[in-house]
Amino acid sequence: MIFVLAATGSAVGLGNVWKFPYMAGENGGGAFVLVYLACIAVIGVPIMMAEILLGRRGRRSPINTMSELAAEAGASPRWAWLGWIGVISGFLIMSFYSVIAGWALAYVLEAVSGAFDGFTGESSANAFVGHISNPGITAFWHTVFSIMTAVVVAKGVKSGLEKAVRVLMPTLFVLLVLLLGYAINTGYFADGVEFLFNPDFDKLSREGVLSALGHAFFTLSLGMGAIMVYGSYMPEKASIATTTITIAFMDTLVALVAGMAIFPIVFANGLEPGSGPGLVFISLPIAFGQMPGGLLFGTLFFVLLTFAAWTSAISIIEPAIAFLVENRGMGRKKAATVIVGLAWALGLLTVMSFGGWGFEFEFAGAKKTDGFFDILDIATTNFMLPLGGLAIALFAGWVMSGKDTADELHTTQTGWYSLWRVLVRFIAPAGVILFFLHSLGVL
Ligand code: PHE
Repeated sequence: MIFVLAATGSAVGLGNVWKFPYMAGENGGGAFVLVYLACIAVIGVPIMMAEILLGRRGRRSPINTMSELAAEAGASPRWAWLGWIGVISGFLIMSFYSVIAGWALAYVLEAVSGAFDGFTGESSANAFVGHISNPGITAFWHTVFSIMTAVVVAKGVKSGLEKAVRVLMPTLFVLLVLLLGYAINTGYFADGVEFLFNPDFDKLSREGVLSALGHAFFTLSLGMGAIMVYGSYMPEKASIATTTITIAFMDTLVALVAGMAIFPIVFANGLEPGSGPGLVFISLPIAFGQMPGGLLFGTLFFVLLTFAAWTSAISIIEPAIAFLVENRGMGRKKAATVIVGLAWALGLLTVMSFGGWGFEFEFAGAKKTDGFFDILDIATTNFMLPLGGLAIALFAGWVMSGKDTADELHTTQTGWYSLWRVLVRFIAPAGVILFFLHSLGVL
């Protein structure tokens, strides 16, 4: 139970509420959503099982887990690199994650002060642009969130995390359902649903297809050791398959409900679905400004979004912390200060990407406008996480013996085990490689 809560806390975060809607919006909706859902089911779930399995068997930080399991299987010690890539990915992700979480924190104050009152599409968009284009303010909130994360990580992940997830996640979900109710009443619910679920593949660029794969990894916290670390705390008797499916189901549900709440509001207020990372911050305040009790609900919503981001951020840097503690004998406090401090400094690039240094570039057939932020996001989400996941699948499927993995999954050669093994050995690795080739224009 604690493992499920912690892993859900890691999975459900900004990825579901902030990233999924705007990426779906930028990539024309339905086709993106379909590819993303397929990636979750066919690639994400089997690799998540593999990553938890490795963590539980190794019971150490990802880097040490990989060297140990490689030694056990008689494979090259270079597999420890998988752990290293994860540590680096986590560090890069943390740098921009805490900037966006800082936006959510700032919006708590906006909500309390009643700033959303009477918001229209235009005034909400102006308020958002006004906020992010002030690097002093966004850097301040980025700092606050970084300190919040460092404090929890310094104390060690356990009881606090569990309580936060047990109470706050369901509340966030209730609020999303409430927003869904509002969205149904806008008169544009059908347009929202149509946009999200009616696939039009012409609208999906090569980068859109790759982003759908990358996002499946990002939203499940996969491919960088976060879930591996949590797996290392998982009790022997718990079922990896059941917990994985539970986590993936809840994570997907949150994203879809967020999407179904947001797009009707977008259409009802003449906003652009493809307007980028500001989508949630522009659309939802309009709803809070209009609904009865909006001051309370709006405040609560951004508080809970911050919490969701917090429980994710903790897991994003935990692989790096675990390494420093295990291999360098550092105290948790010092390790948290060093890692979060460095990520904070790098995060200033993301602050500036929205605060005046944004530049444009083209990537796999799509125009990107947010400079360094886009580079960090694409490098981690679209490449490093899927590559990490590919390596995890290959390790669990080919390097480890079938007997060892069957042991960990508590199953002998039943149909389910064989299905997992086929997915993790062939389908998931081939899938990731095909996505990469497609993004290069080879396919
Ligand atoms: N899954 C988290 C989210 O959706 C982000 C995350 C990525 C967490 C990678 C851990 C590792 O917000």
